[in-house]
Amino acid sequence: MKILFTDTSPAKVRLVARVVNQGEGMSDLDATFVDGAEVSRFKGSAGQVFEGFVTADGETKRMAVAGAGEAGSDKRQHHLERAGAALIGKYLRSGEAQMVLDLGHAGLSADDAVAVLLGVRLRSWSFDKYRTKLAEDKKVSLAKVHVLNAPAGTEAAWDRAAAIAEGVEFTKFLVTLPANILYPETFVEACQDAFKDTGAEITVLDEAEMEKLGMGALLGVGQGSRRESRLLAIRWNGGEKDEKPTVFVGKGVTFDTGGISIKPAPGMEDMKWDMGGAGAVAGGMLAMVRRKAKANVIGVMGLVENMPDGNAQRPGDVVTTMSGQTVEVLNTDAEGRLVLCDALHWAQEQYDPARIVDFATLTGAMIIALGNEHGGLFANDDDLANQLLGAGTVTGDKLWRMPIGPAYDKLIDSPIADMKNIGGRWAGSITAAQFLHRFIKKGTPWAHCDIAGMVWADKPGHTHDKGATGYGARLIDQFVADNVEG
Ligand code: BES
Ligand code: MN
Ligand code: ZN
Repeated sequence: MKILFTDTSPAKVRLVARVVNQGEGMSDLDATFVDGAEVSRFKGSAGQVFEGFVTADGETKRMAVAGAGEAGSDKRQHHLERAGAALIGKYLRSGEAQMVLDLGHAGLSADDAVAVLLGVRLRSWSFDKYRTKLAEDKKVSLAKVHVLNAPAGTEAAWDRAAAIAEGVEFTKFLVTLPANILYPETFVEACQDAFKDTGAEITVLDEAEMEKLGMGALLGVGQGSRRESRLLAIRWNGGEKDEKPTVFVGKGVTFDTGGISIKPAPGMEDMKWDMGGAGAVAGGMLAMVRRKAKANVIGVMGLVENMPDGNAQRPGDVVTTMSGQTVEVLNTDAEGRLVLCDALHWAQEQYDPARIVDFATLTGAMIIALGNEHGGLFANDDDLANQLLGAGTVTGDKLWRMPIGPAYDKLIDSPIADMKNIGGRWAGSITAAQFLHRFIKKGTPWAHCDIAGMVWADKPGHTHDKGATGYGARLIDQFVADNVEG
């Protein structure tokens, strides 16, 4: 979607849109249009859209108003985003190629206008590359939004939001790709491509290098796959030289069959998005790199494919992690924690982080607990937890805090190794978090975000179509902006 700022309305464009606050009139608009909105029960509530036709300069124009809720709402930014997104949801495949978006109404500030435009941009992302027979009237038609009467400062503020949008789009792209296209090596290539000439440093470890480091848990997950595993690190040094880095770690299981503990067939295709944690980290890094964040940040992604095979690991196998701790693999489908434990350990050894936050589609139990509304947050540090919760509220990538503690920890003790990779039937998301906690060095603030319910949606949402949501990229960016940057 091209967003173009302009001083004059392009005459040929037929579709004209604006934002309207709840409870405020539209007195400058055609009386028939205003009556039409009223009888259609258009109130201006957030995300509501009304369309009518008006005559202007002797031409028929298609006029759309998008509700932004009440002007004084404490959810104003979200509502404005929804207004912009709702317009795109309606017109993206409508046949209209261009829209004039008049932001000179509803008392918008520059930040407000940016929120509307971010909604526009985020909701416009789609992926039709493999739909070669898509009917003409189902194709994306809207390509340009001409922004008219933008409040002073909008264009300058938009640069930063556009960087964030790019990050979210990259996350959606990675999460959308099927596992025959996106596997560890091509995930790395996609990042090398996206971060080219940005000043970010990329480090890639192959299987031989990980073997040398003793990453037996991560490699054990990948050993049944024809695809080679990779560890990917993207580093951005935007902060002071002596500032310890903030490290994000992502689970990048490019496909999770469950391995020998194989998953049932129905719905298994969903496991192409079991790399959503790594996707969030890659997108968050891209957002920060694009806006040149003043922080030292590193994204580490453990990339593997979990397949059943003659060489796959078996239930009962004992693997030795890079930390030296041993794990009895009782269920090869509890593979995410095996990938993360080596990635987390390596990241701490390599970078001595000020804080470390991981993102993972780790447990189905997380979806049972929180559905698709919140990611689960587990942390050994209250400040870090609260900062993440705050960033979640601001961005809409919401989190809900869950408990951890010694009573849960003992549920993963093993009779033959230091720990087993599953607990019992209960508290499945917490025992997974306890497992990760055993790989965090004393004194390092750590948080774990189980985002199993958040990366994919069966229905369109405010800022995404059905499919990849882009969850996590904005959360990471906002957390760093609010808490790490000076
Ligand atoms: N990737 C899955 C978790 C998952 C399930 C994410 C459904 C999104 C939707 C993970 O690797 C997994 O299989 N977890 C098991 C753990 C169990 C074997 C202890 C689960 O949740 O069933
Ligand atoms: Mn699994
Ligand atoms: Zn998994």
